[in-house]
Amino acid sequence: MSNRTFTMIKPDATAKGNTGAILQMINAAGFKIVAMKMTHLSKAKAGEFYAVHAERPFYGELVDFMSSGPITAAILEKDNAVADFRKLIGATNPAQAEEGTIRKLYAASVGENAIHGSDSDENAAIEGNFFFSKLEQF
Ligand code: RTP
Ligand code: MG
Repeated sequence: MSNRTFTMIKPDATAKGNTGAILQMINAAGFKIVAMKMTHLSKAKAGEFYAVHAERPFYGELVDFMSSGPITAAILEKDNAVADFRKLIGATNPAQAEEGTIRKLYAASVGENAIHGSDSDENAAIEGNFFFSKLEQF
């Protein structure tokens, strides 16, 4: 079990001014930020990040959305980070997200769902290294 996960605050949450409130929830839940940057993904980079979904019907929409505005990418540290963070963000579809989760509070739809969280230790490492060099991971 790794103690790190990777997150992106997505373009919808950035546009609505929710970045600070979401980071506050992340810290309050006991996650330590060990890398962070604000950036704007090109379509090519968003497509590369979500390549695992390339065959899914929503891939084009997902790539368009994730490249539509700035995001905040971060690596987070906590015991049981991947599973605990998925719990904090809630279900992919905010209509199914539990009360008090980030998606329940800040997501509008399954597409514009405010935040990403890695789904495994292996993907957390791959995704963190996609955005941050070793020198940028503390
Ligand atoms: P994420 O990777 O962003 O943390 O989200 P997730 O694990 O909860 O969901 P995943 O299955 O990995 O899907 C990635 C993102 O694709 C969009 N999506 N749209 N229209 C749809 O049916 C649909 N399904 C997924 C969502 O924005 C989801 O977060
Ligand atoms: Mg996922």
